[in-house]
Amino acid sequence: STEVILVDKHVNKETNYAQAVDIIRQGGIVAFPTETVYGLGADATNAEAVSKIFEAKGRPADNPLIVHVDSKETAVTYVDEVSEKALKLMDAFWPGALTLIMKSKPHIFARNVTADLETVGIRVPNHPVALNLLKRLQLPVAAPSANTSGKPSPTLAEHVYHDMENKIPLILDGGPTKIGIESTVLDMTSEPPVILRPGNVTKAQIESVIGTIRLSAELHGNAPKSPGMKYAHYAPDAPVYLIEDDSKLIHKAIEHVQGKGKKIAVLSSTEYPEADFHFPLSPETLYSSLRKCDMTDADLILAGVPAERNDSDFMMNRLEKAADHKWFS
Ligand code: TXA
Ligand code: MG
Repeated sequence: STEVILVDKHVNKETNYAQAVDIIRQGGIVAFPTETVYGLGADATNAEAVSKIFEAKGRPADNPLIVHVDSKETAVTYVDEVSEKALKLMDAFWPGALTLIMKSKPHIFARNVTADLETVGIRVPNHPVALNLLKRLQLPVAAPSANTSGKPSPTLAEHVYHDMENKIPLILDGGPTKIGIESTVLDMTSEPPVILRPGNVTKAQIESVIGTIRLSAELHGNAPKSPGMKYAHYAPDAPVYLIEDDSKLIHKAIEHVQGKGKKIAVLSSTEYPEADFHFPLSPETLYSSLRKCDMTDADLILAGVPAERNDSDFMMNRLEKAADHKWFS
């Protein structure tokens, strides 16, 4: 069975963490909230513990996990050759939604954390529950998003419970996550550094601290996909199609789909009462709206994307994955 402990309004209550600390120290896994999405955490130095994460998620072994630590001071003890730029970014954005890929010191992390790479992704989460847990543990915690592999990341403890019931012993329920989309992943091992996954910390914000960086070629939509990114589909059961968020176009699409006797769910910032189902679309609501589609009998999901967007737009990036780049036509 899976226990859920409500910590939302009692983030400093000692007993909220005792059980989680015990489980992780003994090689088990625990779900906990971060400011981006919920994570599924294990002792990053214990290969057997980490393997339980891959098993619970059904995650391919060649997709490395992010290591969560309590501070910059802890992080630098785990990496070789910390660059000036990396230190500046830690000062500017940690705790926060920025994961830095750096060269790992050998023999610190279990090999399955980094999928045998020489690099490791590290971040300090900006959430009182995550930080309290990490401080008490004094261990690096490997934690991917706490969803079944391929499903939308969890922004509520209920989402974690839905995917992980009877697969993990404990969920710390810290209420809804603030940002709702996973951290920005920035590869510091290349020069200039490269954004591998866009997130709430933007390219412009990073550039204001360290100067010019680049966007991974695959974010421009043409290059072959790198390990890790190729697996992330964030997809509900029904097919998702992108459409310009233009009321005329969306009205026509709804009519067309319903005219074929099919049910349609619309995700958009404005409401479409004639759609069979409508859910809000914003970074904070994207994943829960995609999950709500799975509770309906919609045959098709239409996601209205704003006209103003660019390659480093993190919501658009996730929508494209959910839709597998399909546009409604
Ligand atoms: O916001 C987040 O980052 C959440 C919360 C729980 O912290 N975590 C998360 O983890 O999204 P996950 O495992 O779902 O995504 C990790 C991403 C993957 O795209 C993975 O390929 C990439 O980070 N990654 C991790 N280590 C890497 C490495 N050494 N080199 C390149 N990419 C790496
Ligand atoms: Mg994930």
